[in-house]
Amino acid sequence: MSKSNLQTAQNKLLDWYEIHGRKELPWRNTSDIYHVYVSEIMLQQTQVKRVMEEYYFQFLEKFPSFFALAQAPLEEVFGMWSGLGYYRRAKNLHESAKLCPYGLPQDFQSLQKLPGIGRYTASAICSFGYHQKVSVVDTNIARVLARFFGYEEASEKLLWQCADLFLNTDHPRLHNLALMDLGSLVCTPKNPSCTVSQSGEVPLGREACPLADACKGFDEPAKYYKTKSMQYEDKQLHYGVYVQNGKIAMKVSTEGMYKDMLELPSIEPQEDEEKYLGFFKHSVTKYRLEIHLYMLRERDEAFEWLCLKSLEHAPVSSMTKKALEIVLKNMHRF
Ligand code: ADE
Repeated sequence: MSKSNLQTAQNKLLDWYEIHGRKELPWRNTSDIYHVYVSEIMLQQTQVKRVMEEYYFQFLEKFPSFFALAQAPLEEVFGMWSGLGYYRRAKNLHESAKLCPYGLPQDFQSLQKLPGIGRYTASAICSFGYHQKVSVVDTNIARVLARFFGYEEASEKLLWQCADLFLNTDHPRLHNLALMDLGSLVCTPKNPSCTVSQSGEVPLGREACPLADACKGFDEPAKYYKTKSMQYEDKQLHYGVYVQNGKIAMKVSTEGMYKDMLELPSIEPQEDEEKYLGFFKHSVTKYRLEIHLYMLRERDEAFEWLCLKSLEHAPVSSMTKKALEIVLKNMHRF
């Protein structure tokens, strides 16, 4: 692609952002690097709306600085993360705050030495927080770039090269934000706006996207707009419920995605129908889970006894929260 075509595309992209971009998002309107960092960690694998409405402000109010976060016990951090999923993120955030209680380093390499900060997060912090001249590639931007430059199966390395080539070095931060928004609002995984007709009319076509004029995907949608659908895995899990004197037996998870959090004791499936409390379904990442709950009578040294009344901010996952709702409905049986 010629330099002048790239420049035209860069300018159109910025014009589009000025009109359609999500410029009001709070983490785009702060110079506090802690706020930028917290938002980036929360926004990995979680939608903007949920982060904004349920977590971002609440977390910052409870832990207003790196120092405050570093001082807090991990359980409290998990408590504020409860329901957001991917709890490893909260643990890493906490560990990074302990390593850097007075603020994050400013260079890309040092940032990547901190737990939970990979190439993407380091670049996002450098671009959105420190306004440095660096490109950013997240999943939305990767999709836009692959379609725009015409790669069906692009390696990560190639995508970062494309991002560097396309970077608007006069306005790098706005350029990256614009690409991110284009990916999530227009150049979506399924049915990107340039292929969609509004109320049965002809598709919006190039009007829909500021990059359409130079986009390889727009020229050959059948080739570049393919989507991989998620391969699900079904699993059954079985947990024991032991309630006594208003307290419930929990265990600290030692592995997997809930490591360090509290969960119900995992047990083998039980035959005895009298012990059966119920089941629910829960989807997380690629797993479609069916979770069965049984009353338990055997005590275990490793139990942590949690007060049933104080569950709201306990360090538990949303899956465990659903299980606890079933427990509360069955309290008369204990
Ligand atoms: N603005 C800055 N970083 C963002 C992100 N990761 N997701 C959505 N909007 C953002």
